[in-house]
Amino acid sequence: MEECSIKAKNLTKRFGQLIAVNRVSFCARPGEVYSLLGPNGAGKTTTIKMLATLLQPTAGEAWIKGYSILREPHHVRRTIGLVPQDLTADDELTGWENVLIQARLYGYSGNEAEKRAREALEFMGLMEAAHRKVSTYSGGMRRRLEVAMSLVHSPEVLFLDEPTLGLDVQSRRHLWGLIEELKKQGKTILLTTHYMEEAEALADRVAIIDLGKIVAEGSPEELKSRIKGEVIHLKLRDPGLANGLAESLARELGVEAEPKGDTVVVRVQSSGETLPSLIRLVSGMPIVEIRIVKPNLEEVFLELTGRRLREEEGFDVFRFRVMSRRVRR
Ligand SMILES: Nc1ncnc2c1ncn2[C@@H]1O[C@H](COP(=O)(O)OP(=O)(O)OP(=O)(O)O)[C@@H](O)[C@H]1O
Ligand SMILES: [Mg+2]
Repeated sequence: MEECSIKAKNLTKRFGQLIAVNRVSFCARPGEVYSLLGPNGAGKTTTIKMLATLLQPTAGEAWIKGYSILREPHHVRRTIGLVPQDLTADDELTGWENVLIQARLYGYSGNEAEKRAREALEFMGLMEAAHRKVSTYSGGMRRRLEVAMSLVHSPEVLFLDEPTLGLDVQSRRHLWGLIEELKKQGKTILLTTHYMEEAEALADRVAIIDLGKIVAEGSPEELKSRIKGEVIHLKLRDPGLANGLAESLARELGVEAEPKGDTVVVRVQSSGETLPSLIRLVSGMPIVEIRIVKPNLEEVFLELTGRRLREEEGFDVFRFRVMSRRVRR
């Protein structure tokens, strides 16, 4: 039998009429970053909550390092670290206090608890800010603190539920680097995200999840290779020429070409094969930019589900949650 650090078998969760997670099965191997990629409401958090023994499945079963989530929840909890989607640190306490409390909750006392808290904070680059109240931390520091809290008991398996939600590009990349370090230490990481760049950058394998179901699974490369061809964008100085150019490209090269404003979007099997004849054809035309777009996971998702991963572009869920929490106080 294949060795799995996390094995889910037909994991299912119903909330009344809604099937939030629908017969989800997968195997995350030791030392692997396995990502659940899907839009809002896909069932990512519900899956993680069941695996972390915080939510009872309606049906199905799962094992973490061979421990059953149904029959051995205590062992499962010792084996896993969880960074939940909603921040859990107490922002009236310091980072140090939060991590130390976590270490004590796991049963470490005295010097051992302090040593573990220090190691976790150091690893996440938070020692300098350790004695500041969490309320003074930036978004990126808060997320790193959550990871530090999940590491105090040296878990072999880590669940990271949208660890970079709402972070700017720089903080996101910083956290990616740390996640890679954790992987090098041999931890198995289950990462949920709706950022396809994140899944592409970190994951060994990705399961695309939509409406509670895994619709495709594979390495980012395998998933992208399902999309045939590439897209070439030809931007013209004069938008009035786009129609004519699209028509002549379609006629001469037998490719799919569509005018979009000042740009002609050309779909080809392989840009390497088409580019030389395409460039010959457009020479003399006022082209200001040629851009080749390789297929990405967003397109894989679109092809599989007919929808985009990020439907509410511009709406920052994380900021909204933090804001609404402040208003409630
Ligand atoms: N306790 C609950 N009671 C009823 N419905 C729930 C409950 N928890 C989740 N759901 C529903 O289950 C579905 C899956 O939710 P889930 O939080 O797992 O999605 P997600 O993929 O984590 O989404 P997001 O990207 O927004 O975090 C959603 O339709 C959600 O409204
Ligand atoms: Mg979620």
